[in-house]
Amino acid sequence: MIEARPLKGETRVPGDKSISHRALMVGALASGQSRLRGLSSASDPMSTASCLRDLGIQVDIGTDEVVVHGKGLHGLRQCAHALDCGNSGTTMRLLAGILAGQPFESRLTGDGSLSKRPMIRVAEPLRAMGAGIELSSEGTAPFKINGQRPLKPLHFIATLPSAQVKSAVLLAGLFTDGETTVLEPTPTRDHTERMLGLSSEDTEQGRKVSVPAGRLPNPLDVQIPGDISAAIFLIGAAAIVPGSEVLVRDVGVNPGRAKVLSLLRDWGISIVETQTRMAGGEPVADLLVRSGHGTTTLEIAAKDVPACIDEIPALSCIALSAGVGFSVRGASELRAKESDRIQHLVMNFRAVGSAVEEYPDGFSFEGNSNPAAATIVTGGDHRIAMAFALAALRRPEIEIDDRQCVAVSFPEFFPTIARLQQPAPYRS
Ligand code: S3P
Repeated sequence: MIEARPLKGETRVPGDKSISHRALMVGALASGQSRLRGLSSASDPMSTASCLRDLGIQVDIGTDEVVVHGKGLHGLRQCAHALDCGNSGTTMRLLAGILAGQPFESRLTGDGSLSKRPMIRVAEPLRAMGAGIELSSEGTAPFKINGQRPLKPLHFIATLPSAQVKSAVLLAGLFTDGETTVLEPTPTRDHTERMLGLSSEDTEQGRKVSVPAGRLPNPLDVQIPGDISAAIFLIGAAAIVPGSEVLVRDVGVNPGRAKVLSLLRDWGISIVETQTRMAGGEPVADLLVRSGHGTTTLEIAAKDVPACIDEIPALSCIALSAGVGFSVRGASELRAKESDRIQHLVMNFRAVGSAVEEYPDGFSFEGNSNPAAATIVTGGDHRIAMAFALAALRRPEIEIDDRQCVAVSFPEFFPTIARLQQPAPYRS
């Protein structure tokens, strides 16, 4: 492998994508103006903004802040055409929860990738709450939602760990006349609960979150933290390129999202967290990363998968670049993301000459100290593109077939890497 130019300096990442979607939706359901600073302007959250506009909500996108003119729980109006969720599963699944409680019919569509993703998981609890839901015969979008008001309260046991399904049920719970609860045997990211000010309780069966009857969302005035799922690519780049030192400022370190940091530290990457503070109800910190990494196989235990599911493409490519092995099991949900990520990762690791085993719920490979030149097939999946861009830092003959798809979550990814690799200006 060649010695790539070190990454040096400080940077920020786009606002957290999960929190950005929720802030737009909760802002639309609150009565009055919500002021959102640091909202991600990537195409996924912009799909949410455009669906909300189609539902009659004014969303003003300024340079420093986004203002959502919320109309209260009863303020959305029917859209004559299908709402286009683009590539965004969070837009489709969370909006389905809101639309289940509207006194009108809605349709939700998405791009080719989103139209293949499973939607029964969200349709079932919403049907149990009284909404009429139609999906394709494969259980995918297009979604037709015949909303009901009020919906019936539900006590939902989330057998599949999914923050999107949980959030859909909690948002639908705002439109019931009683208390709705979600019990999660495996807790998932809790941004919706934090934003709606819901109480949660850790029980022997798992974490229980409740939406009390009559809960009205308050307008928000928040600074959205940087997205740890974007920051991981810069952390990985700094770790694997010798001589690097990068400070990523204002990153969200919600315990439901920060598992990847402890995994990487335990494996051997130096990530120093400073200035830890609360912003907009979420913990935020600056992360200082210095080059250096583990020398043993990077193993992700099945119990840790739900807390780092979006980071697995990055983690596996960090291991590839470090020349060590990687293994993950218990991650079948990776097959239901923006692409079948297990299939794409395995195919691309094989293309660079790694000895890979594929399982229904994961994959593993051995250390490969000299990845071969190859063109990476991203399947239009932003996280596959950015993950292999890490490998390409030390092996420039690795090319990415579609660099544009990073716009879904981190449009400035390639320019940010290039800027951090610039030689520092000479100071006399
Ligand atoms: C998300 C939850 C996760 C994650 C996705 C964003 C969210 O999906 O993979 O990128 O914002 O709630 P699941 O809920 O399907 O696990």
